Amino acid sequence: MAEWIQVARLSELPPGTATEVVAGERIVALFRVEDGVYALDGVCPHQGGPLGQGHLEGCTVTCPWHGWQFDVRNGQHQFNAAIRQPTFPVRVEGDDIFVDISVPSSDSKKDIE
Ligand code: FES
Repeated sequence: MAEWIQVARLSELPPGTATEVVAGERIVALFRVEDGVYALDGVCPHQGGPLGQGHLEGCTVTCPWHGWQFDVRNGQHQFNAAIRQPTFPVRVEGDDIFVDISVPSSDSKKDIE
């Protein structure tokens, strides 16, 4: 069952920026790119770096700790096809951004094993 949580305001997330939010017991990285708002599991699968504090360029976020890069639209690691960071559905209603944290779309740990 979906578990939509209001995590941020659109007016506080200008285009081309990222932020880190807490939703339930999860840390979620939010990104606003040209075609919308996307959410990834905010904990980098490498060593736990904060993806929501990473540098966003286009649709690619660079982890601030060691530079792993992910496509924020689908969580795909840019250089290793086996690694995909879990994503969460996002809904925008007016100025409110909601994230459904019930089921991430993939499990990167499973992909790595
Ligand atoms: S923790 Fe993200 S690249 Fe190392």
